[in-house]
Amino acid sequence: MSACQSTTIVVFGITGDLAHRKLIPALYYLHANSLLPEDFSIIGVGRRSISRESLLREFKKNIPARELSSRRWHTFAGRFSFLKGDVADSALYRELSRRLADLKRSSHCQNILYYLVVSSFYGYVAKNLSVCHLTSGCVRHGSFTRLVIEKPFGADLESSRALNRVLRRCFREEQIFRIDHYLGKETVQNILTFRFANDIFSPLWSREGVDHVQITAAESIGIENRGAYFDATGALRDMAQNHLLQVLAHVAMEEPRLFSSGAVRDARLRVLASLRPIPARDMRASTVRGQYAAEKSANKNIIPYRKEASVSPRSATETFAALKLFIENDRWRGVPFYLRTGKRLQEKFTEIAVQFKERSEHLFHGYPGDEPNAIFFRIQPDESITIRFTVKKPGLVQEVKTADTTLCYSSFTARQHDAYERLLLDALSGDQTLFTRTDEVEAQWRFITPIAEAWRDGRLPRLEAYAAGSWGPAGAARLIERDGRTWYPYKPGICTPLTT
Ligand code: BG6
Repeated sequence: MSACQSTTIVVFGITGDLAHRKLIPALYYLHANSLLPEDFSIIGVGRRSISRESLLREFKKNIPARELSSRRWHTFAGRFSFLKGDVADSALYRELSRRLADLKRSSHCQNILYYLVVSSFYGYVAKNLSVCHLTSGCVRHGSFTRLVIEKPFGADLESSRALNRVLRRCFREEQIFRIDHYLGKETVQNILTFRFANDIFSPLWSREGVDHVQITAAESIGIENRGAYFDATGALRDMAQNHLLQVLAHVAMEEPRLFSSGAVRDARLRVLASLRPIPARDMRASTVRGQYAAEKSANKNIIPYRKEASVSPRSATETFAALKLFIENDRWRGVPFYLRTGKRLQEKFTEIAVQFKERSEHLFHGYPGDEPNAIFFRIQPDESITIRFTVKKPGLVQEVKTADTTLCYSSFTARQHDAYERLLLDALSGDQTLFTRTDEVEAQWRFITPIAEAWRDGRLPRLEAYAAGSWGPAGAARLIERDGRTWYPYKPGICTPLTT
């Protein structure tokens, strides 16, 4: 951090859901653990008519009681001010400029972190900050001004390029921090440590040793109160374009030369840029889209997607997406990666399964109980790594069985840091490793846009209905079973003993 004495975090969209559920609890945790700069302030910008005090009361409800200390909360609340205004109104920026000037200490200048959660206004906010000369730090004191933005970074390749052009006119790339909150998850970061710190696995980590990879991000919730956003977006853009592809980049990247932001982002980019485009003729065989219908069971009353608030009753938006894709490089050529994500599925879990090849000539091949080796990275919940191998079944005869051995993250620490705590800290210290760069975002869109367009134009595959609370449409099973493989089933209670 620079020698500047004060740091101001300006959150655009403070009255929204993300600020309530994630940002404020993360900022409070960092403050309570003395991880924020000593002299910090938060300016929350929002449109809602609400007093600062009521807003703080709402925030407080989202902080887990075990983490709340009244002294710490008091100092945290004392640093917070609310600025009511519309981001589309230029008067707001003049008022912000005045507030920032008031906060600036005597001859010192301040660090500023703008955090934007106002999706369709990113370009607009950036331009107005620039017009009001609020986008560059003070060189003499080495202070910083940074911009953190939440997805969506555009809706397709063209709009993301247009957004990037606007942002880059107002801020330098080193100032822009694009959040993909999956990168802030401890278990996603651990993929790199696991892969590059354990030489026993590296000879196998390629088409020589890997049969295929599965990446699942299943959610049991529906679209909550985000009908308008989700209906215009869909699961492919909401989850696959960003989170699933970034997770895939971690699983597949070459070892970076250094553990530095530039080298890690270069390595991710190389994977993303090597994704083999899915040609129109393969859309049916390689992609699946589904939409949830009502819950079947009699004791639950889950409404179908098309009846959710702010969703069109004829909506063709997918709430489930599955893809089979390939990476065109020497390491991965010919190895299928199966990705799936969906809302209102049976359980919430995010997991990567790497299945290894089996030598057909090995001594115990074909014995009942002999299954391929696999490694499972459970991203959430029950954060863990499981290795599956075959052992002799204890007993007086030669039989084999598959065994799983699991390392649970909870054995290290009872409290898992929320992704936002790590990402906010990194943005404040200027470390961009866990943030996606312009070229990564564009490579992701280059791969996803043709799929989204084919789906939008009503070309194959057709939109399949699936029952809420199931594991998704039948097509998702066919996608992988056609290749003689199956999705690994969800395994409950890996780290938390189940209570019956
Ligand atoms: C967000 C999506 O990026 O990720 C949401 O917009 C989704 O639709 C959420 O629910 C899932 O995040 P997590 O951390 O709960 O897996």
